[in-house]
Amino acid sequence: MTREMGPTEFRAHGHAVIERIARYLERPEAFDVLPAIRPGAVKSALPAEAPEEPEPFDRILDDYDRLILPATTHWNHPGFFAYFGITGSGPGILGEALAAALNVNAMLWRSGPAQTELEEVTLGWLRRLLGLPDSFFGVINDTASSSTFYALAAAREALGLGIRERGLAGRPELPALRVYCSEDAHSSVDKAVIALGLGADNLVRLPTDREFRLDPDALRAAVAEDQARGFLPMAVVATVGTTGVTAVDPVPAIADLCQREGLWLHVDAAYAGSAAILPELRQVLDGCDRADSLVVNPHKWLFTPIDCSAAYTRHPHVMRQAFSLTPEYLATPESDVTNLMDYGVSLGRRFRSLKLWFVLRYFGRAGIVEALREHLRLANLFAGWVRDHPGFVLAAPVHFSVVTFRYEPSGSRTAPELDELNGSILDRVNASGEVFLSHTRVRGRYTIRLAIGNLRTTEEHVTRAWALLCEAAAEADR
Ligand SMILES: Cc1ncc(COP(=O)(O)O)c(C=O)c1O
Repeated sequence: MTREMGPTEFRAHGHAVIERIARYLERPEAFDVLPAIRPGAVKSALPAEAPEEPEPFDRILDDYDRLILPATTHWNHPGFFAYFGITGSGPGILGEALAAALNVNAMLWRSGPAQTELEEVTLGWLRRLLGLPDSFFGVINDTASSSTFYALAAAREALGLGIRERGLAGRPELPALRVYCSEDAHSSVDKAVIALGLGADNLVRLPTDREFRLDPDALRAAVAEDQARGFLPMAVVATVGTTGVTAVDPVPAIADLCQREGLWLHVDAAYAGSAAILPELRQVLDGCDRADSLVVNPHKWLFTPIDCSAAYTRHPHVMRQAFSLTPEYLATPESDVTNLMDYGVSLGRRFRSLKLWFVLRYFGRAGIVEALREHLRLANLFAGWVRDHPGFVLAAPVHFSVVTFRYEPSGSRTAPELDELNGSILDRVNASGEVFLSHTRVRGRYTIRLAIGNLRTTEEHVTRAWALLCEAAAEADR
């Protein structure tokens, strides 16, 4: 008979796993941050079939060490500056381990009472840390993409057009539903619009101002024009901290317009929302108290292991109208409880609040503030070096912990040549294995991004990144 791993064996292997994790976290820089492997290398090193017979756990762990670790992009590496730097912090990792052990599926309050209530409590704490009103109700989703999808599903439901029941297709009386965001909003907004059946063409991406912010005048004009053409404006997605250059859209002016026109306002603060924990940056969420929904990802800049996305709304009943569905086998006698399955597509719910609870308690507000401030300091230090260099230029203002810049040496290079030059600098720097930076396009131009977000990143690592960039630029110039 197949037996579960017994306690003695579990303890022995468990200690071995914890020891491995501790060793790894002690020095993630023992690995190249970006592994030098070819696509397909991992697959070809693994058998095509699952094993027929049980395998010893030690052998599995050895293969983890041999095949998986070196072929991993190390987001824990202090030289990880790509996309948005993140931290799977110690308390978060341990919270994740305990959650895995409980293996609770908190779809219903009854199926996970502590899990449901801890989610409500931790999101209440986070809401207060961010300075959001107590009227905001929050749940945890896997990602901001899901949170934004659910928010726009609620916006669609709020129209009261019976779309939940009758769908969109085959209804000539329904006007096209329009959603608005800036040209720099995240692609998850497009995906939400596509998945909701609104049609990608009905996402209106508007121009930004000189500081890459959605222009409220352009928004006003687009809404008016759509109304005149018989479209039905449904929602606006404002971004606090755009993915490319971390611009902050003017939420108060957008909220005014949404209120006047009866549009749902969703705020995507996936990355930069956490900055509002700092008293000196509290204003980044100005106007967000008037949002209908808002997402912030603790798995981005709040030291919580992926995945953990906090989705808030002022209208939990609308979210339930969009998603609540209780077949007999899920009916429970409790009334007046939160059943997490009512707030999204997935029935099953991981116990994600435990790791967030551990993180918020272990670091405390003061510890979080100190860490965020240090990231801001490092980003500003780096931006100063870029500014003072005769060849490098900043591509956008630095609001948070991301710096965007280009190498533009004097000379007669064309725009495509400069783009290629910056691409080759980035490739050269990333090939070092010491740091990993990514890129974006700013006003169509290839731009390098340095994103700080790891608790292990110090001034030494940022200094090293800058030295590698300067070396690569000098080399490319030759
Ligand atoms: C502004 C913004 N919104 C949404 C997302 C999507 O996040 P997730 O991976 O949690 O879906 C990102 C990802 O970087 C982002 O930068």
